[in-house]
Amino acid sequence: MLRRSVYNRQFQRTIGNISKKSNLTIGLIPGDGIGKEVIPSGRQVLETIGPKHGLTFNFIDLQAGWQTFLDTGKALPVETVKTLRENCDGALFGAVQSPTTKVEGYSSPIVALRKELGLYANIRPVKSVDTPGNKKVDMVIVRENTEDLYIKLEKTYIDEKTGTRVADATKRISEVATRRIAKIALDIALQRLKNNGNVQLTVTHKSNVLSQSDGLFREVCKEVFESNKTLYSDIQYNEQIIDSMVYRLFREPECFDVIVAPNLYGDILSDGAAALVGSLGVVPSANVGPGIVIGEPCHGSAPDIAGKGISNPIATIRSTALMLEFLGHSQAAQDIQTAVDSNLREDKIKTPDLGGKNSTSDVVNDVIRRL
Ligand code: NAI
Ligand code: MG
Repeated sequence: MLRRSVYNRQFQRTIGNISKKSNLTIGLIPGDGIGKEVIPSGRQVLETIGPKHGLTFNFIDLQAGWQTFLDTGKALPVETVKTLRENCDGALFGAVQSPTTKVEGYSSPIVALRKELGLYANIRPVKSVDTPGNKKVDMVIVRENTEDLYIKLEKTYIDEKTGTRVADATKRISEVATRRIAKIALDIALQRLKNNGNVQLTVTHKSNVLSQSDGLFREVCKEVFESNKTLYSDIQYNEQIIDSMVYRLFREPECFDVIVAPNLYGDILSDGAAALVGSLGVVPSANVGPGIVIGEPCHGSAPDIAGKGISNPIATIRSTALMLEFLGHSQAAQDIQTAVDSNLREDKIKTPDLGGKNSTSDVVNDVIRRL
């Protein structure tokens, strides 16, 4: 087995943006609904952890989302993208509310941001804490972030034969995007290599039906794996068709380690996997690319609980830790994750989604107390 330091170096080469800067500028984009309630918790945690690790943070508040669209006519103001690109090392994005029907001029700002900033990978760790009777879940879903059906090339037209409406959407899978997502997934697998050398990568697809698009995804992932046999020799390579993947994920979640998926399957799989660890409110993500890292909870704006002060801040706090990790501050990141795990393991101070009676700020204060 190769030494862990080799894996770490390899990982840093892939990410390419590990800055290790100690004075960091962080954009805060709360968005809509509970995004506004959870993003301040990320800031509080950074302000607490900073002095303990010699880090200072300069925060910039930024706009995006449905309310921004209603106010200004733009869901993602040019100024937000410009500031992120030119001034920020990292950012925290809450959630935006998107209408389910087409609204002229509106387009999801997070999907646009990922594209604009080249944030090609969405890294989503889904982890349970060790408690008796709990099935151990410890996986990372690596979701391709820039293409697939999310390129949003759709059209509606009238079918000549029936005279009724038909809608088409283009699913795009490219070799370039697949190659880089496969690479980062393999490097994450390397990083996670347990001492016994037991780590696996599962490529998920539907190439039995979509032989060209998902077929290409499958093929390129395999090529990347096989292209460096020495480096990846300790990784067990698996493939799983998306529907049976869901079945297995729910039946034996403990069998999965790193999962790499095209955009749409990755999106759906990670919300499903969230149910395995208690709540969408605890599952974080990092949008990663060559220039900037954006931490983002996997959940949406949760209009059903927005404004009540009971949204779970843990997904955002964990996303904050992930952002720090991808900015090269692994120890600070680890300390945050440990504080969160300790809150979850104690199972006392928790929001209603986890069966508790506490508020968002109770949980934030409890995590901060443990830092
Ligand atoms: P959602 O993720 O907002 O909510 C699903 C369920 O999980 C709800 O019952 C909600 O109360 C619960 N939940 C989510 N986060 C929670 C938290 N932190 N604490 C406690 N409970 C939590 O998904 P939904 O309802 O399908 O979408 C609502 C809106 O969010 C839509 O407008 C959608 O477009 C948007 N959305 C935005 C995303 C983003 O900005 N990245 C991602 C997903 C959805
Ligand atoms: Mg989603």
